[in-house]
Amino acid sequence: MLDMLAKLKSTALSAIAATRDMEALKELRVRFLGKKGELTVISRSMGNLSPEERPGIGQAVNLLKEKIEQALQEHMERLAASRLSERLLKEKVDVTLPGRAFAAGGLHPLSLITGEIEDIFTGMGYQIAEGPQVELDHYSFELLNIPKGHPAREMQDSFYFSENVLLRPHTSPVQARTMQKMAPQLPVKIICPGTVYRRDDDATHSPMFHQVEGLLVDKRVALADLKGTLLAFARRMFGAEREIRLRPSYFPFTEPSAEVDISCFACGGEGCRLCKGSGWIEILGAGMVHPSVLQMSGYDPDKVSGFAFGMGVERIAMLKYGINDMRLLFENDTRFLSQF
Ligand code: PHE
Repeated sequence: MLDMLAKLKSTALSAIAATRDMEALKELRVRFLGKKGELTVISRSMGNLSPEERPGIGQAVNLLKEKIEQALQEHMERLAASRLSERLLKEKVDVTLPGRAFAAGGLHPLSLITGEIEDIFTGMGYQIAEGPQVELDHYSFELLNIPKGHPAREMQDSFYFSENVLLRPHTSPVQARTMQKMAPQLPVKIICPGTVYRRDDDATHSPMFHQVEGLLVDKRVALADLKGTLLAFARRMFGAEREIRLRPSYFPFTEPSAEVDISCFACGGEGCRLCKGSGWIEILGAGMVHPSVLQMSGYDPDKVSGFAFGMGVERIAMLKYGINDMRLLFENDTRFLSQF
């Protein structure tokens, strides 16, 4: 019996040593130590031994079992280690390579321009005001001197939730909201940047776009103040040589009203493709706040006066950056956006 055990020992140990993979090792464990394994079978046959022989043989069986168990374990560890070092050799990791850089985001061109406009006007003492994008007819039109049925409503056809609730078609309602909040304090000196909506959609119009509104109400505000303010803005935004001109226009909430042009920054006023040969480029609408508008929001038009203006952020961005299609600003194509 001891001979059998010795033979089994050398068979088992050399079989284990010759194995190259984990699966085969598991099979060997079953073959020697499993329920019907070779060592198990030998130990079962111990019943046939005489009582004197039994303890010695029993001990030898246990020893061999431990020995095989240990050999299996050690060989398993060796295989795992050599597999790891093989992989490391093959993969050749270069730990001195520089790390992968994360792409840094940037501000959208519309945010850049809005920020510039805000800087210019806050530098002149204006505060920033905001209002809701879902707005009442009352603020969008009524308080701006555009009663129901007024033909000027067509200039700003928007999206309606109900008869009296709509997406604001301009930032002008913030004029009325701010005056109502502040009256009778002076001065009211605000700009309001914000998103606005109109039923328009082509290369130069988007149903969703952005405006910056300006409003100054104080004692003795004159048209000359409006002109001086807009000239300062035009020069900061488009270059120190810019001139501006005011052309008569019409808005129900200002009187007189004007379209404001800047001298063309591409040709200096000679006439080119950008300014369509005229030497001038339209950039915003403006005017002196209509007396009824002041009155409706709590200011006495006999004692105070004011000016207001409104500009399209997309238009300023397109002019300043030379963008020829407004839709580029809303497509979120990073090849376009990363240029700013
Ligand atoms: N709200 C006008 C528009 O959207 C612009 C404007 C604002 C004109 C303030 C005059 C004064 O067209």
